[in-house]
Amino acid sequence: MNRQKAAIIGCGFVGSSTAFALMQKGLFSELVLIDADQKKAHGEAADIAHGRPFAHMMQIYAGDYSDVGDCGLIIITAGAAQKPGESRTALVYKNVEIFKNIIPQITAQNFEGILLIVSNPVDILTYAAWKISGYPKERVIGSGTVLDSARFRYLLSEHLQVDSASVHAMIIGEHGDSELAVWSGANVSGIPIHDFCEIRGHYDHEQAMEQIYRRVRESAYQIIEEKGATYYGVAMAVTRIVVALIRDEGAVLPISSLMQGEYGLSDLCISVPAIVGGNGVQQVLEIPLNEKEHTELLHSANELKEILQKIWL
Ligand code: 2OP
Repeated sequence: MNRQKAAIIGCGFVGSSTAFALMQKGLFSELVLIDADQKKAHGEAADIAHGRPFAHMMQIYAGDYSDVGDCGLIIITAGAAQKPGESRTALVYKNVEIFKNIIPQITAQNFEGILLIVSNPVDILTYAAWKISGYPKERVIGSGTVLDSARFRYLLSEHLQVDSASVHAMIIGEHGDSELAVWSGANVSGIPIHDFCEIRGHYDHEQAMEQIYRRVRESAYQIIEEKGATYYGVAMAVTRIVVALIRDEGAVLPISSLMQGEYGLSDLCISVPAIVGGNGVQQVLEIPLNEKEHTELLHSANELKEILQKIWL
């Protein structure tokens, strides 16, 4: 296995923006772009390759499944995307079928690296990829609520006028309508969020919490309404996960992975904080949640379970 070689399957807005972001990071020496539309993959690879003198040495080219066997990482962004007003879960039947086509083509190449799923609904498709591939659970990761948590930190940082890097807060659960904010653990450099709000002159916590959470949950709907799709934010979130994997960081990130008893959940993929390193998911963490948050997490898991029961894998 060549850990410096990765592939992206699906060269739509999300796949190509991710390739662009990865080129700037200089993490890989080889990046293969695969798409059902080979001409599109070729065009995207050429466009990004032309920026190489300003970035890092990396071979980027359009390939096919015969190129993925020795990759250390495969990122899947393929599938139908949301239309304005459409939920992520509405894509499930179409995209599960697409995964039934893609995953066996990967396993046929004796791929031994990490599968990073980005296509929506990401929790369902991460589960589908794990199930269809038969890979150990550590090697199948969904981008989950890493993007939602970034949106959350961004909005909190705007509200409080501080650097978002100093805001520690997470969205967990489904990457979708039933996700939840872990307000009980949110803090700014160790100062509990409500205390920090008061330091910054904000006292109406209930209203602010409701507004910020709603804006996080509705971000994708709003952006899709305004520009047709979301892709830069997700590309940067995926890049963050890839850095954790490639540099074997042991970063704690709210990725989607298989639950086996954590939080009383099992046999589904959902986002909760996990330690992410070179071999994928090192450990799923059971963070303290208050009663309301725990109930919301169980509700989110139930929503995903209901969908899982309707699909055939
Ligand atoms: C997003 O949250 C649509 O899942 C995509 O931007």
